[in-house]
Amino acid sequence: KEVDIDLNMLSKDNFDHFMLKEIFDQPNVLRDCMRGRIINAPYSRPWSPQQKGKNTDSLSVILSAVTLHRRELLRARRIIILSCGTSWHAGLIGKQLIEHFCKLPVEVAYASEFRYSDSVIEPDDVVMAISQSGETADTMAAMEMAKKRNALVFGIVNAVGSGISRISDTGVYIHVGPEIGVASTKAFTGQVTVLVMLALALGMAKGTVSQEEYNTVLHELVMIPDKIQKVLEQNDKIKDIAKKYIHSKNFLYLGRGYNYPVALEGALKLKEISYIHAEGYPAAEMKHGPIALIDSEMPVVFLATHHQLYQKIVSNMQEVISRNGKILAIVTEGDEQVKAMVDETIEVPPTIACLAPLLSVIPLQLLSYHVAVAKGLNVDQPRNLAKSVTVE
Ligand code: G6P
Repeated sequence: KEVDIDLNMLSKDNFDHFMLKEIFDQPNVLRDCMRGRIINAPYSRPWSPQQKGKNTDSLSVILSAVTLHRRELLRARRIIILSCGTSWHAGLIGKQLIEHFCKLPVEVAYASEFRYSDSVIEPDDVVMAISQSGETADTMAAMEMAKKRNALVFGIVNAVGSGISRISDTGVYIHVGPEIGVASTKAFTGQVTVLVMLALALGMAKGTVSQEEYNTVLHELVMIPDKIQKVLEQNDKIKDIAKKYIHSKNFLYLGRGYNYPVALEGALKLKEISYIHAEGYPAAEMKHGPIALIDSEMPVVFLATHHQLYQKIVSNMQEVISRNGKILAIVTEGDEQVKAMVDETIEVPPTIACLAPLLSVIPLQLLSYHVAVAKGLNVDQPRNLAKSVTVE
């Protein structure tokens, strides 16, 4: 049953919209998400956000769901991730994380398709449901199906006590606080943060991640909130860039590897609140279709941080430039090569590839927000969309 909430009764702090508040909440809520789960290993002392990246050499991640269900998780032959919308994009990142750190095959399915498919679920599969609201009808129905086939059902949920959290056998809350804006922002980065912690905890239990890589990722992860803060400081610059694009009718978002789901998420954000048609694609697939659309009217947003396949992304940019396409690129701080080539760049601090989404998604959230505001649209409650989709 749905509960009506009077949005005027909730605090936006000093922000104009819940969405902007929630974008700016991200450094703090991600610290909340990690608190109590990332500890200073030798003494089991909680890692404190106040340490701001100091003494992070001996961190470890402890998730009670992994400790308590160690046997079933170690026995798992496959993980199936089920979700919808933005949570599905987080699932695509989760697949890359789990396959890399845990050497376990992962399938990611739209819950709405999965629930009506003939997909085979074995008792030694682990089914993970990712959901902000914890009430999405399709995700819940797909989970019920997995439960009937005796798979372990693992929830990654924000809303405490929600339907999905109650029907899960176990799971991890993302703990980012209530999300009011219909377009999901902090829930996405919270989901990715949990998936990183989960992949590391499970990888360590399975012995599939080296101590060195485990240390590096945790060391980098606890620095992410401060780095997001640095991206947020460019809000005014992103607002100015957004104004140039309000008359565009179509956008293309391109990324590869861990940044490919970010391209999908950036395009979804623009569609949801700015009502501009946008498509996300893996950059190398551009030549199999989207390239036909490129002309001077077609802005292309490239995720071009200094990671996997950077030089290949640069050659994709050259193809767009030679067709007079306009490029906005998200780059790593200090990148001069791309800056010299394209119309606009937004810099994000350096991090490792698997954490790139946590930084590169932030400018895309702000871009869609400012485009929508400049167009005078209802940012927090866009037309035809609902925060929780409790019907089919
Ligand atoms: C709706 C919301 C999206 C959300 C999706 C999945 O479409 O508007 O923001 O990503 O549902 O919701 P869930 O609560 O399951 O993550």
